[in-house]
Amino acid sequence: MTSIQISTEIPGPRSRELLRLTEEHTPRGLGHNTPIAVAHADGALLTDVDGNTYIDFAGGIGAQNSGHRAPGIVEAIKQQADDYLHLCFMVTLYEPYVRLAEKLNQITPGSFAKKTILFNSGSEGIENAIKIARAYTGRTAVIAFERAFHGRTMLALSLTGQVRPYREGMGPFFPEIYRLPFPYAYRCPDCRESSCHAHSPEAIYDIFRSQVAAESVAAVIVEPVLGEGGFVIPPADYYRGLKAICEEHGILFIADEVQTGFARTGRMFAIENFGVEPDMVVLAKSLSGGTPLSAITGRADVMDAPPVGSLGGTYGGNPIACQAALAAIEVIERDGLIERAREIGDAVQERMHRIQSRHAIVGDVRGLGAMCAMELVRDRESKEPATAETAQIQKACYEGGLIVMKAGAGGNVIRTLMPLVISDEQLDEGFSVLERAIESLSG
Ligand SMILES: Cc1ncc(COP(=O)(O)O)c(C=O)c1O
Repeated sequence: MTSIQISTEIPGPRSRELLRLTEEHTPRGLGHNTPIAVAHADGALLTDVDGNTYIDFAGGIGAQNSGHRAPGIVEAIKQQADDYLHLCFMVTLYEPYVRLAEKLNQITPGSFAKKTILFNSGSEGIENAIKIARAYTGRTAVIAFERAFHGRTMLALSLTGQVRPYREGMGPFFPEIYRLPFPYAYRCPDCRESSCHAHSPEAIYDIFRSQVAAESVAAVIVEPVLGEGGFVIPPADYYRGLKAICEEHGILFIADEVQTGFARTGRMFAIENFGVEPDMVVLAKSLSGGTPLSAITGRADVMDAPPVGSLGGTYGGNPIACQAALAAIEVIERDGLIERAREIGDAVQERMHRIQSRHAIVGDVRGLGAMCAMELVRDRESKEPATAETAQIQKACYEGGLIVMKAGAGGNVIRTLMPLVISDEQLDEGFSVLERAIESLSG
C-alpha cells in the first residue's frame, strides 16, 4: 500500500478555508511553503484537514530529524506537563535543564570542558553566541559568509548574507560585520580546480588587510553546510584551514548547526565531517523534537565570560522543551539515525543523479548525509537559476502528495530535510512524485 493518499483536489476545501483565514489574520511577511493545513503528523507523514496524506521531505524545515511525534518524545512531554510547565531557570533550578546541558556538553565536538546555555529559537542562540564571543575576546567585529542564513532577528539578520527576501528594506544593520565569500564549487570553476584564492580560507587575510584588523575580530561564524543558502558544501579541508587562522589570531570559531545538527549530515554534528572542534556550537531545530528550544554549547572558559545576569530570558530552556530534547537525542542514538542518515543520503543522491541524467534542468546534485539538494538551472552552460520552474515543481509535488522545500538565493534548489525515520518505501514513493513533477515541466 502506498503512503500517499489523495482524495480531494489540493488544497482541499478545509485547507482553502484555513488559507483564507490565514491571509485575513496573519501578515504576508510570514510566507507559506504550501497552502496545506495539517491535522496530524506521524513519522515522515502528514495528514491534512481534508484527510489527504503526504510524504514529508521538509520536516518542519529540518526540525523533525527524529520523526514527527516520535515514540518517547510525546510521553516525555506529557510526563513533564504533569509536574510543572514553567518556572524560569533564573528563578529556580530544575533538573531537565541541567541534564540537557550535561548531555550536550558530552555529545558536541571538542575534548575540552564545556558549558551550555538554552534559549528559545535559533536566532536567539546566534545573537547570544555573538554576545558571548564579544565578552570573551573584548573585541567587536564578526566575520560571516556571503549567502549565509543565521535568522531573522536583528543581529542574526545582520549576519545573514542574503538580501531577498530577508534583508531588503530592513536596515540599517549591526556594524562591524564583514563577509567572506562561501566556496561554492558549482558556481566557481576555480574552486573545482582547487586553485581558488577568493574562496580559500586565506581569503580572510584580504579582510584583515582592507577592512578590519584581525585583532578586532571576535568570531567567525559558519554554517558547516549552507542551509537556506542552497545546501552548499565546502571542500573537506576548508574549515580546518579557517580554524587554524582563527586560532593564530585569537578569533573564536562558531558553528551554526541549527539546520545541520542532530544526525542530518551523517554525523551528530556537521562540523565533525570537517575535523574541526568549534569554540561554540549553536543548536536548535532537531535538538528538541518539535518544541521551541535552542542551545549554545561551548568552551567552558568562553561560556563563562559574560557577567552574572547578562545572559538568559524568561522561557529559555523551558522544561517541556528540555524533556523533549532529551527524548529526541535518545531517539537519534537508540534508533541509529546517524547511520540511517547516511543510508538515506546514498539513496537520495542515487535518485537525484538518475533524475539529473534524464533532465537537463538539474544542473547540480550534492549532499552530505541526508542533507541533499538538486540545483535547477535554465541552461547547464549559463547556469541561470530556474526559479519559476522550481516553484512549479514544488507545487506539482504537493499536489501529488510530497512536501518539498526550496533553498538558494535564486529559489532554485530543491533540498531534502525528511525525518530520518522515513522508510525506504516512502523515500522511493516521494522521489517518484518528484520525478513526475519534473517530467510534467518538460511536458
Ligand atoms: C542555519 C540557521 N541558523 C539560524 C536559523 C534561525 O533559527 P530560528 O528560525 O529558530 O530563529 C536558521 C533557521 O532556519 C538556520 O537554518
